[in-house]
Amino acid sequence: MRRIVIFDTTLRDGEQCPGASLTPQEKLEIARQLVRLGVDVIEGGFPIASPGDAQAVKMIAQTIKGPTIAALARSLPADIDAAAAALAPAKKKRLHVFLATSPIHRKYKLRKAEEEILRQAVWAVGYAKKHSKDVEFSPEDASRTEPEFLHKVLEAVIKAGATTVNIPDTVGYAIPEQFGALIQGIVERVPNIERAVISVHCHNDLGLAVSNSLAAIKHGAGQVECTVNGIGERAGNASLEEIVMSLKVRPEYYRATTGVDTRQIVKASRLVSTLTGIVVQPNKAIVGDNAFRHESGIHQDGVLKHRLTYEIMRPQDIGLGESKLVLGKLSGRHAFARRLSGLGMKLSKPALDRAFARFKALADKKKHVFDEDLVAIVEDELPPEQEVYKLAYVHTASGSETVPTATIRLSKEGKELQDAACGDGPVDACYKTIDRLTGLSPELVDYGLHAVTKGKDAVGEVTVRLRYQGAEVSGRGASTDVIEASARAYLNAVNKLISAPTRRAYLQRRQALHP
Ligand code: KIV
Ligand code: ZN
Repeated sequence: MRRIVIFDTTLRDGEQCPGASLTPQEKLEIARQLVRLGVDVIEGGFPIASPGDAQAVKMIAQTIKGPTIAALARSLPADIDAAAAALAPAKKKRLHVFLATSPIHRKYKLRKAEEEILRQAVWAVGYAKKHSKDVEFSPEDASRTEPEFLHKVLEAVIKAGATTVNIPDTVGYAIPEQFGALIQGIVERVPNIERAVISVHCHNDLGLAVSNSLAAIKHGAGQVECTVNGIGERAGNASLEEIVMSLKVRPEYYRATTGVDTRQIVKASRLVSTLTGIVVQPNKAIVGDNAFRHESGIHQDGVLKHRLTYEIMRPQDIGLGESKLVLGKLSGRHAFARRLSGLGMKLSKPALDRAFARFKALADKKKHVFDEDLVAIVEDELPPEQEVYKLAYVHTASGSETVPTATIRLSKEGKELQDAACGDGPVDACYKTIDRLTGLSPELVDYGLHAVTKGKDAVGEVTVRLRYQGAEVSGRGASTDVIEASARAYLNAVNKLISAPTRRAYLQRRQALHP
């Protein structure tokens, strides 16, 4: 069995998914789950791209122990310096430098001849090597590069010190047989290839990212780059859970394994979906809501007679076991904190106090409190970078003969603000009231509601995406009352909007509105 290196790029390429911006704190939360998942490399971001990305990579490098932390850089001094600075605190670090090699990129994007590209790639690896002994080089758009030139570049960068050479199918153009042959060609024709790990990085434009990655593994790739839920630029990247489970379910075919604890897959999927606001399609392989549901009578009958008639993996293998009843109305703070730590969740004391108060309120309303409920509450208590507004009170009136009205009280820096408004429904009324209180009127780009557990008394989790002055953020909120969850989600997003990068614009606007 070969051990395949799982290089997770959810926080870098995954975050390039339209609308999926994550704060540094959220990236750190996901990185913690990636550690529990057992990935080998976490690509935290592209530090030159934004101060937020640089900060996120730094926070991950400072905090996360175990996996190697990687950061992306173009083959330019400023990029490599920024990535190296952000990675400095990491115990195990990797500089990931890239430069496009395909004719179309050389001619139109870079306007450089082959020789220049070769020189720049070798220089970049040598320069990166001064900061880190672990250096990965990616010839961007490799799958559309002439194989002879690609081999020449790979040989040269390995000579310059690259320890991993990554073969990106940047535009999702490859076909599995062809991509497998490309990797085979590299194994056979790059003379010093045994000194580096061959990696692949496949995009999903034709829906073939996972197939291409698996074909590459079959032909000698030792690392795959992938993302949780397959999120990423355009149609996304190869999905981590699909690759890992393919190797697990078909070991006799691939003769390869990973270090992933597959029982952490569902938690990782949920966390990424919640924090990015990118909903998982119900029929998504492995983590979609329907992935283990049998609808047809014939299938149900078969599964009841013998599970293996229609199931190739067990729900428990991905962490989808029966929901556990964990705590009740009489459970104390200590038991609550212990259960959270069992779920791998750490909270500051004030956040723990708030989460405990909400758990008690929930236990009063809801007969059974499940792990999923606790996770929803706790994720709700993870403060955005700057929690300017807190929800203190929400009351709505609505019905077939009633004008939907909301009264909301927010607390801001110790002061309470209250207002009321009417709307097209109770949620709209809440959002109009919050807009009046904050003086902002962001566009609601997306709204989603789902039940965290089964049953009529389930906790409802709302995710929203707001757009305001060019910035787009997601927010989430959870409660057994879906109106309250809606208000919480909206406020969570508003708090993100007015933190850091957009704060100045917000303050200016506030001043103009309330001089
Ligand atoms: O898709 C791509 O080519 C990339 C590289 C930077 C690895 O994301
Ligand atoms: Zn990519």
